[in-house]
Amino acid sequence: MLDIQGITLIRDDKEILHDISLSVGDGNIHCIVGPNGSGKSSLAYTIMGCSGYLPSSGTIDFNGQDVTHLSLSQRAKAGITLAWQEPARFEGLSVKDYLSICHKGEVDDTGIARVLALVNLSPKRYLEREVGETLSGGERKRVELASVVMMRPKLAILDEPDSGIDVISIQDIVTLIQVLKEEGASVLVITHRSEIVNIGDSASLICDGRIILSGSPSRVSEHYLERCRPCEVETVHRI
Ligand SMILES: Nc1ncnc2c1ncn2[C@@H]1O[C@H](COP(=O)(O)OP(=O)(O)OP(=O)(O)O)[C@@H](O)[C@H]1O
Ligand SMILES: [Mg+2]
Repeated sequence: MLDIQGITLIRDDKEILHDISLSVGDGNIHCIVGPNGSGKSSLAYTIMGCSGYLPSSGTIDFNGQDVTHLSLSQRAKAGITLAWQEPARFEGLSVKDYLSICHKGEVDDTGIARVLALVNLSPKRYLEREVGETLSGGERKRVELASVVMMRPKLAILDEPDSGIDVISIQDIVTLIQVLKEEGASVLVITHRSEIVNIGDSASLICDGRIILSGSPSRVSEHYLERCRPCEVETVHRI
């Protein structure tokens, strides 16, 4: 499904990602963990094809196609979607409209209510709310996650879906990721929560722009939690 080979990303003369190789199998969940500033979001933007994130070397294959040089919109059309760590707000657009335009075909209120229920937002209270500044950060984050389910992606990249979400609601995120998988998506999740890493089929630990460990989620999570503080790989890989 997703096959990344040897990606290096340089921004403003700084090497942000170094020789990253990573695969996510069809219908699999792959979790990425790593300390703040290690390059997790940069990897997500590189896979999504955001402007300024063209790797200086390496390739990204998606669904058997080399997408390394495709634009963000071409990748979105191919079935890749990204739930942003800090989702944007859209003044003047209701939750109902926002979720409707995320869906490719016709959608009715029942379909929208179903995805809102997944993120524990009551349709009665939220359908007509603006996706603007009156939504709290956690509510906006939940709407963003609901929008990813609406899109029926082939690959969903979730950048810290747990950030800004209260601790007792982590199970909602776990359920949402499982629903994405049941509906046929492959999921790449960036997270700091071991409850989420544990539902992965595989996981990787990023440190200072490099994948330093890849394999079973429990092993990666254990290594990250017990051995990665303070980070042993200090910033020696600058160019
Ligand atoms: N344009 C840029 N110029 C220089 N450094 C940059 C640029 N963009 C990002 N960085 C740096 O790249 C590193 C990786 O940032 P990134 O946002 O990918 O980290 P992250 O792992 O997602 O962190 P967090 O857990 O805080 O979300 C950081 O040290 C950041 O300061
Ligand atoms: Mg980040």
